[in-house]
Amino acid sequence: MNILKSKVVIIGAGNVGVSTAFCLINQGLCDEIALIDLNQEKAFGEVLDLSQSMEYMNRNTAVKVGTYDDCCDASIVIITASVPVHNAGNDRLKMLEPTKKVMKTIVTEIMKSGFDGHLIVVSNPVDVMTYYAYKISGLPARQVIGSGTTLDTARLKYFIAQKIDVDPRSVHALVIGEHGDSEMIPWSTVRIGGKDIYSVVRDNEARIGKDPYDEMKAETIKAGWEIFNRKGNTCYGIASSTVGIVKTILHNENRILPVSTLLQGEYGHDDLYISVPTIIDRTGAKEIVELDMTDEEFKEFNQSCEHLKSFYECLDD
Ligand code: LAC
Repeated sequence: MNILKSKVVIIGAGNVGVSTAFCLINQGLCDEIALIDLNQEKAFGEVLDLSQSMEYMNRNTAVKVGTYDDCCDASIVIITASVPVHNAGNDRLKMLEPTKKVMKTIVTEIMKSGFDGHLIVVSNPVDVMTYYAYKISGLPARQVIGSGTTLDTARLKYFIAQKIDVDPRSVHALVIGEHGDSEMIPWSTVRIGGKDIYSVVRDNEARIGKDPYDEMKAETIKAGWEIFNRKGNTCYGIASSTVGIVKTILHNENRILPVSTLLQGEYGHDDLYISVPTIIDRTGAKEIVELDMTDEEFKEFNQSCEHLKSFYECLDD
């Protein structure tokens, strides 16, 4: 694993891959980025555009069109490649069959290079695809992370912050479970400026209503589709979430993020990739945080686990 050189390979030069590259160079997080895409001309165009933005960034980042050989000494490889979302009917799990084929080819090529860094999977359905990438790659689970509900968590904080009228960074909240319809919000753990959300809502009932919870959850779940159905893709939110994970690894931050990670007995589940709060450092997904939740919340989380598990049989060849 080469952490010193901080080379990041991005597979897929579509909206998500390129926004991720732009966010990376904007934050000056790594020395080198290699962009891999079947469409080499598109990738080259993006590389030129990105490279020519460097003058006004905080530092220089070498950006190039890559090949799978670039994965050999990469600290991190990010898989964003996906099949078109248009037929998904607002359910990411409908993309499983076609994405699986693409994922198998990509992970096989990455591993052929001798790669031993961190694999971050962004392609949807992200939880099942991350599990699949973990299985095919043979990498240790801590080196295989899915972007999971990092994005949904950012969205939830945005909706809570809007409702209460505070900065999202003063909201402590998490979305866990599937990155999709069965995800859940452990409301009993949500704090705003250290105060539990139930008290905050009660104290501001006249302004924000008695029971804003279902509405905020629904907004969070459909947020991606609200964007997708208008502009045909979502990219900035997922790019910044992904770069948040990259930063946590490269800067050895020990930040706790709700990434898709392998449960091995935690939360009473085994051999399952799903989003739960996870301590991330330069070795990857170091430790899972087991939340204290209410019985009702555990039940909801378990339903999300079972839902995801039901798709694992589609992964058998
Ligand atoms: C979204 C995609 C990345 O929710 O699933 O924006």
